[in-house]
Amino acid sequence: HRHLLGIEGLKRDEILSLLDLSEQAAAQSRRVDKKSSDLRGRTLINLFFEASTRTQSSFELAGKRLGADVMNMSIPTSSIKKGETLIDTAVTLNAMRPDLLVVRHHAAGAVELLSQKVDCSVINAGDGSHEHPTQALLDALTIRRHKKRFEGLTVAICGDIAHSRVARSNILSLNTLGARVRVVAPSTLLGEDVERLGVEAFTSMHEGLKDADVVMMLRLQRERMASSLIPSQREYFHFYGLDAEKLASAREDAIVMHPGPMNRGVEIDAAIADSPRSVIREQVEMGVAVRMAVLQALARHLPNE
Ligand code: CP
Repeated sequence: HRHLLGIEGLKRDEILSLLDLSEQAAAQSRRVDKKSSDLRGRTLINLFFEASTRTQSSFELAGKRLGADVMNMSIPTSSIKKGETLIDTAVTLNAMRPDLLVVRHHAAGAVELLSQKVDCSVINAGDGSHEHPTQALLDALTIRRHKKRFEGLTVAICGDIAHSRVARSNILSLNTLGARVRVVAPSTLLGEDVERLGVEAFTSMHEGLKDADVVMMLRLQRERMASSLIPSQREYFHFYGLDAEKLASAREDAIVMHPGPMNRGVEIDAAIADSPRSVIREQVEMGVAVRMAVLQALARHLPNE
């Protein structure tokens, strides 16, 4: 593949070999000297039209650990503010001869459209409610480190499924890897097409979490909701916030995940987020490793001459 636009279209073996490559990158990141020269001479540009803490900084570190030159395009001070379009911005940056372009955009499909206008490799860092493929890969890696397998696992993804690119990419990835995926949300936040993706849908946390091996919590994406449909935080926490009582429905050895950013006291109790069951910080560490692996895999398809 020249681009990574989504999990859709990736085969099981391709995902597993990216996870294996990520383990090597994680080992590299634990060394005192974290730097290699795999991407020496290559240029990576981060182009984020939506806010990010984890994804943008981990792509920057991943590129630098592999020896690439990394440039972060600052959208608030760019000519986007003077009316330049997404495509004109991308074509302009493309003329500076980057090898890899990492793009986050609020519109589903925008990153794929952009990939058709440039001649470098494009990585989707999240497009609207569509896909966030590197998040699903880092989640799969974290699950595999704890559970050693995917077949036979029950993964419950809970919260604002309707607006979540993280849920969508994880459903595609975990289904391909052989896990059983459940989604748990109030009916208004389940999304229209979710059952077509091959998941079991629940509106009760106790039923959805019953005997789950992995509990993945999601943030309410208020920025993608009409204001009249935003639930009250107190009521949402009562029914859907992960606390010790709800987590007791899952298996005793279930791990708790969250892609971040998290809203403590809304979708997750602070005590659970900080408990030994939580692998949230490990997800962040694996995020750098997975992004290193993705950059290395795409770099193999870049022209050498
Ligand atoms: N999980 C995730 O994509 O986090 P950021 O929005 O901080 O990049």
